[in-house]
Amino acid sequence: MASIMAMQRALCRKERYAGGAMIIIPQVSLAGPADARGIAEMSRDYVEYGLGWSWTPSRVMKAIRDDATNVAVVRERGLVLGFGIMRYGEQKAHLTLLAVRPTERKRGLGAVLLSWLEKSALTAGIERVQLEARCDNPIAIAFYRDHGYAESGTVRGYYRGEVDALRLEKGLWTVIGAG
Ligand SMILES: CC(C)(COP(=O)(O)OP(=O)(O)OC[C@H]1O[C@@H](n2cnc3c(N)ncnc32)[C@H](O)[C@@H]1OP(=O)(O)O)[C@@H](O)C(=O)NCCC(=O)NCCS
Repeated sequence: MASIMAMQRALCRKERYAGGAMIIIPQVSLAGPADARGIAEMSRDYVEYGLGWSWTPSRVMKAIRDDATNVAVVRERGLVLGFGIMRYGEQKAHLTLLAVRPTERKRGLGAVLLSWLEKSALTAGIERVQLEARCDNPIAIAFYRDHGYAESGTVRGYYRGEVDALRLEKGLWTVIGAG
């Protein structure tokens, strides 16, 4: 996975127009150890709400240090606005977490993080991305559907035996590999 890590240091900058105004999307980069606590707190507050806190700072730190995992962030003036964690296997990648601060949503940050992580998987020759979304999170489910993910099943009690998950998958070779 060393090649993935090297490639991820490349910058990703997107500029888009909405209603004539240019929106600059901050670049994506790999998280460093100093980001672990902030990322863990975002997971606790925006993903794991009502379930306790499993993505603690030490678990996020392990992911940051894991060669088979990318922890990607977008930041502005030093503040992490959003992050995504993807673990890369031989043929499948797993999107473990993705979140954007509430005040920064709907400006394309979630899309740019997801695309960056998917492109890394594609570059590594990985065929599919799989993820789970809380069944009680229609915004996330709609977001993933918009980005080409299709439902492949429901996992009862996936989150601490309390909340079901919808499993979603996307084949990378037929979608982003074509363009
Ligand atoms: C799901 C989540 C990551 C999406 O992040 P985001 O940064 O808002 O995503 P984007 O901005 O790329 O796209 C979201 C919407 O904003 C719209 N949008 C994107 N850029 C925009 C812009 N410049 N102006 C207006 N709207 C825009 C998109 O079209 C999309 O619209 P839709 O809601 O109709 O589908 C975010 O809602 C979140 O953090 N939720 C809580 C955590 C969570 O549920 N994570 C996923 C499960 S782990």
